[in-house]
Amino acid sequence: MDHRLGFEPVREECTRKRLPVEGDLPDWLAGTLLRNGPGRFRVGNRPLNHWFDGFALLRRFGIRDGAVVYSNRFLRSEAYEHAREHGALGFREFATDPETGPLGRLKRLVSIAFTDNACVDIEVRGEGFVATTESPRAVSFDPETLATRGHHERERLGTTTTVHPHYDARRGETIGYTTRLGRKPGYTLYRIPDGGTEPDVIGGVTIDEPAYLHSFALTENHIVLTEGPFVVSPLDLLGGASVAESFAWKPERGTRFIVFDRESGDVAATHRAKPFFVFHHVNAFERNGEIVLDLVAFPDASVVGALSLDNLRSPSPSLPTGALRRYHLPKGSTRAVERETLYAGHVELPTIDYARRNTRPYRYVYGVSNRKRPPAEFQNRLVKIDVESHTTETWEEPNTYPGEPVFVPALDDAATAGEDEGVILSVVLDAAAERSFLLVLDAASFTERARAVVPHPIPFGFHGQFYRAGERPTRSMA
Ligand code: CO
Repeated sequence: MDHRLGFEPVREECTRKRLPVEGDLPDWLAGTLLRNGPGRFRVGNRPLNHWFDGFALLRRFGIRDGAVVYSNRFLRSEAYEHAREHGALGFREFATDPETGPLGRLKRLVSIAFTDNACVDIEVRGEGFVATTESPRAVSFDPETLATRGHHERERLGTTTTVHPHYDARRGETIGYTTRLGRKPGYTLYRIPDGGTEPDVIGGVTIDEPAYLHSFALTENHIVLTEGPFVVSPLDLLGGASVAESFAWKPERGTRFIVFDRESGDVAATHRAKPFFVFHHVNAFERNGEIVLDLVAFPDASVVGALSLDNLRSPSPSLPTGALRRYHLPKGSTRAVERETLYAGHVELPTIDYARRNTRPYRYVYGVSNRKRPPAEFQNRLVKIDVESHTTETWEEPNTYPGEPVFVPALDDAATAGEDEGVILSVVLDAAAERSFLLVLDAASFTERARAVVPHPIPFGFHGQFYRAGERPTRSMA
């Protein structure tokens, strides 16, 4: 078997299974890695079309005193329960819609009931944990048992929202945006102070054809939306086309950086660059009169179609290369935007020492990568990129496919600690052995410290967070 095993469904849930550990786990590593991703890819006899359509399966690795316990559980979203009960989709997923018939189409004309199948990320709202997707319908769950608790209606400020809000620990606030697709389409920025649950509007803009935005950048004084020319036609979407079909690549528009003042919410500048597509921003900061903004750039939006399950399940899927790119946005001048390539790729699911370095100058990016460029198969190695020296280190093993690397710093409040002092956690599919394992790398040397072996394969996930025992949860990545 190969990477295709990562797109096979999970049949059974498991609770607190103690995993055999090889190697030694650091004494200080105590907490919970919560991850999210699809775990089922069919409804009745009907296959789902896209990786983003799969039903959310929460995964939990509890780490304490050198031991690791693993649980997984399907999120009991309304979408999941409906599919299980009726053998048919009840909600619109990203690229698969409920069966059309005259009635179904009519129903969609009057309502854009997006799914609550929150399969993309994990977030903390107030003191509670929620599973998230780009629909404003998040689903809360118990971080110990993974049991679904109920709905958490997020921002009512827009039609879709981001799964990558920023958490600024120094200011004690969460910042995010929503995209408005109805009347007066555009983007709305919001902030939620610590302890609050309701968002305050910071500002926004009106845009005729809003773009698909997956993440954004935050600096000390600015919020930057990177708007690639992958734009939605609200009329198509409201008129019954699937979400995926409602977007079109319009390269003549270029990619725009809309820079907002973080306090006033006003647009401070708009910069235009040659067209590219981005899912994930890495980090951004202000230095020498400019905003330095790092992201993973794709040449166009074909990556969205490339993540269809048909393509991903082929023996050698065709996947575009994501490159780590740095943009220099001049502040208070009309100088052109400059760009440089920090790593020619492939890299995706980038993470950093988020708690200490986000919005600040930093040095290390971790991501999934590929031995070949363009990728000849699914992500098959991990990479650590030094953005100062432009050097890289990699971890790989034959027939294995690692997931998003999450950095966990070694010490609390260690302002003097090295940026890569800590570990990387990644859930790796071992296709030959037909099982997965939690890999623990020493982040500095990028070599294995330990692995905890799961007795079955875990489907590939998207994002996750590590929550340290006894501490208020914070985000570990953008
Ligand atoms: Co993402």
